[in-house]
Amino acid sequence: MKQHVLAAAFIAGVCIAAGGSPLPAAAAQQFTTAVTPLLDGAGGKSIGSLAPGAALDVVGQSGSATHVTLHGWYAAGSTAIVDTDPAKHIVALSGFTGHGTAGAAQAVTIDGWVATSALTGDVQTVWKAAAALYAQKCGQCHALQPVNSYSANQWPAILKTQADNAGLDPGETALILTYLQVQSGH
Ligand code: HEC
Repeated sequence: MKQHVLAAAFIAGVCIAAGGSPLPAAAAQQFTTAVTPLLDGAGGKSIGSLAPGAALDVVGQSGSATHVTLHGWYAAGSTAIVDTDPAKHIVALSGFTGHGTAGAAQAVTIDGWVATSALTGDVQTVWKAAAALYAQKCGQCHALQPVNSYSANQWPAILKTQADNAGLDPGETALILTYLQVQSGH
């Protein structure tokens, strides 16, 4: 997965991001552990559905909710879907009801809130859980396919038929699909 890399320097206790905007010293990246609603405020309404493993920059905290920004790319022709990468159709957010003009793939930053309990600072825990589910659900009828057997853009078509074979629910499908796409390496 192409992650948002923040080249930061600490000068006199102030964190200066590459773009020049000051960030609180506690700013850190968090990751969704499962399909999770993105909210328009702490305890607000859903404005879209975050995929498992979505990388979010933390802006702040209020009660049991975390204020985040998502950096991604509108999929070509759609502002309802935000991908992690302009060339790979790895979904970070779907069903987005915010604004934008559909056209070519374009970079977008989306502001929202997520239940803090749905986040982890260690994305490897997400991929470990996904790998275990993949081994459990997808190795029953044939050998497990190495994750690099297919590219990030090929796995979705495979999962369309195989998710039914394995009896996956939508959350399990999203977790396994994102895992296969991110780990595929191409
Ligand atoms: C109920 C048995 C069964 C389960 C469970 C199963 N598969 Fe399959 N899989 C098949 C069969 C049968 C084929 C060959 C025919 C077809 O494509 O459906 C196949 C083919 C494939 C192929 C070859 C490409 C293709 O589409 O033909 C891939 C890759 C694959 N499966 C991945 C998966 C993944 C990933 C999972 C877990 C989500 C999974 N399979 C779960 C039965 C299963």
